[in-house]
Amino acid sequence: MALPVDSASGTLDLLPPWWRQAVVYQVYPRSFADADADGIGDLRGILSRVDYLSDLGIDAIWLSPFYPSALADGGYDVDDYRDVDPRLGTLDDFDDLLRALHSRDIKVVVDIVPNHTSNRHRWFQEALEAGRGSAARERYIFREGTGPDGLEPPTDWGAMFGGSAWERVADGQWYLHTFAIEQPDLNWNHPEVREDFLTTLRFWADRGVDGFRIDVAHLLAKDLTEPLPSSAELALMPKDGKHPLVDRDEVHEIYAQWRALFNSYDPPRTAVAEAWVDPSRIHLYARPESLGQAFNFDLLETDFDAAQFRRVISDNLALVAESGSSSTWVLSNHDVVRHATRYGLDPEAIGTRLPARHGGDWLVAGGDEAQLDRERGARRARAATTFILGLPGSTYLYQGEELGLHEVADIPASARQDPTFFRTHGEEVGRDGCRVPLPWAPDGSSFGFGDDGAHLPQPEWFARYAVSVEEADPRSTLHLYRTALRLRHELQTGEHLEWVETGRDDVLRFARPNGWHIVTNFGTEPYELDDAPVVLASTPTPLGVVPGETTVWLAPVE
Ligand code: GLC
Repeated sequence: MALPVDSASGTLDLLPPWWRQAVVYQVYPRSFADADADGIGDLRGILSRVDYLSDLGIDAIWLSPFYPSALADGGYDVDDYRDVDPRLGTLDDFDDLLRALHSRDIKVVVDIVPNHTSNRHRWFQEALEAGRGSAARERYIFREGTGPDGLEPPTDWGAMFGGSAWERVADGQWYLHTFAIEQPDLNWNHPEVREDFLTTLRFWADRGVDGFRIDVAHLLAKDLTEPLPSSAELALMPKDGKHPLVDRDEVHEIYAQWRALFNSYDPPRTAVAEAWVDPSRIHLYARPESLGQAFNFDLLETDFDAAQFRRVISDNLALVAESGSSSTWVLSNHDVVRHATRYGLDPEAIGTRLPARHGGDWLVAGGDEAQLDRERGARRARAATTFILGLPGSTYLYQGEELGLHEVADIPASARQDPTFFRTHGEEVGRDGCRVPLPWAPDGSSFGFGDDGAHLPQPEWFARYAVSVEEADPRSTLHLYRTALRLRHELQTGEHLEWVETGRDDVLRFARPNGWHIVTNFGTEPYELDDAPVVLASTPTPLGVVPGETTVWLAPVE
């Protein structure tokens, strides 16, 4: 293939960077594969499945945190950013895994959690010991309480996982934790905090990691000038870069420094922001001089509906054009109800729209099986995934979705781990249902996950979705993903699409610059097609027809 030549300089213009159109597969390490039989997935477990990842055809994996952690928040409570949790392995295991993945041409993205450390982090322990007024407390956000004897928290702010966002320590001061009690927020105005994260980024970049996923990237910068506003006052403030807690303009000074560091490597390291901000401000994170890419979570809140999909896609393609980045499509991750399950529930029947984040009402109600149409959910999930895999930009897949896995709803209270469950006294069940260890085989103590059980209980029906079962079935979801990812290499040229009218409100069709067409029938009535060979179909498709809730890919006619 001829490389494009930059006409101004006469030099070879490099091909677009790998991440622009990559398929990135998220591994939640504690639930992927367990090599040392302790019920917790580990790095050697992932290493033992590198062939599986390679056969899937992904371009990169994103590893959720594997650092030492008491698991108060599934590893997002980090004790030490430059080490591996001993239950998950060692730094040598990490290097072996990195080497094995790179030898298969799979890039590696690691998760950086900069808004908070864990309460077991050396700094927080020092802060507790050093007492009020100490330099060690300056790295966090400590304040005096209010009310008689300071027994009330400094403000009425609530934490994301429920309860107050402040916790009192033995000497009577309070510290801020936006998430769990065990996740004290860092003070990003402190030079040592900034410096130490640069050291962490260098530590992993020097080891050879290709990129970073930045956890709650929009929360680091805070203005905590007294008097602190109440939560009612906060709620009324616009999120325009000046809000005291969220998406402040200054946060980009931090990322400009990080970008300089990333660009000092060859090739430059990539980064993707997890930033839950107003769509009009997402481009600030996705700019090349900032993190370079940002997650777009709109599809997590979108029904299986043609008009909604079309709007989200058009809006997001317009937004990325503003930043010069590429779009990111996400249907599932470790924080939301799996999309096969979301699409298998009828919002009207369960009396509510299903919020993807933090569980959803269906799960709160105990996940009544009678309300879930598993077949329909799986069918729609296959159609939605093959639709987004045809779009320009990168796609983030979450482990287990390639098996068509559903959310596990019936986890007993005694086995639950998510802090959301505990802090809301069970009112919100939280995110354990999408984090249940993967089934690799239809039998064994943990369906092939490991040799000694699984840290979250796996249901009987996992047997049907086991990797070995799906490998043996050419009509399985796993085979669909493999075929789609293989064909995607031919389809992904250019970063544009053109909508093609279909004559039906519930059928979407778009064309890619090289002549591939993607057609999705979001309705239930079959849609007739009289052109082009179908090279991929998300459900078995008779000639000339796109059945209901199905996507087909049409190759250009030679
Ligand atoms: C992000 C993570 C989530 C975690 C939270 C706090 O939203 O994706 O899992 O609980 O940040 O670190």
